[in-house]
Amino acid sequence: MRLFAALVPPDDVLDELAQAIAPHVGQVPGLRWPARDTWHITLGFFGEVPERVLPDLETRLERAVRRHPAPTLTFDRFGAFSSTRRARVLWAGVTGDPMSRLADSVRAAARRAGATQTDEKRFHPHLTLARAKTETDLRPLVESLSGFSGSPWRAERVRLVRSHMGAQVRYESLAEWALAPAGQG
Ligand code: 2AM
Repeated sequence: MRLFAALVPPDDVLDELAQAIAPHVGQVPGLRWPARDTWHITLGFFGEVPERVLPDLETRLERAVRRHPAPTLTFDRFGAFSSTRRARVLWAGVTGDPMSRLADSVRAAARRAGATQTDEKRFHPHLTLARAKTETDLRPLVESLSGFSGSPWRAERVRLVRSHMGAQVRYESLAEWALAPAGQG
């Protein structure tokens, strides 16, 4: 099964992002905008994981998550991978408490449980808002979204998600664990 671990921002924070992008959704040729109920910030992408690994994976992830304090984050910009000129992914970026140790722990937990395809790319926390099949110049779009600053929020929980591939990707939440109260860890 294809698994990843993610933070899911609260509804009012997603409302702010939805409002910011609303004038643009469906307006840029070639861009597909995933449904809002799929929005998340990936902490670790584990690839295909054998089903037998799941119980151990959940135990290890829970232990890792409980050790890290809940970060306070703010969506404060939009950008694109790999660049705004040759973009495949439009994202909203966060600033705030660093999350690289949390992301490292989550990925290490998955590796120890036997997830061998765990993505080890450098961690760039982001929430994907749109995808393009081919490289697309998103400079005008990102420019028109500049100046955005959302409300701060605390990421209190980490979710383990199963990704069902198909014509339309479907995400299934398998488990969720609370991070440590802010200030601990
Ligand atoms: P993305 O949002 O930047 O596309 C589920 O696919 C989640 O895992 C997505 O948020 C995706 O990031 C992330 N992810 C990270 N590495 C991935 C990979 N190699 N293949 C697919 N998804 C990946």
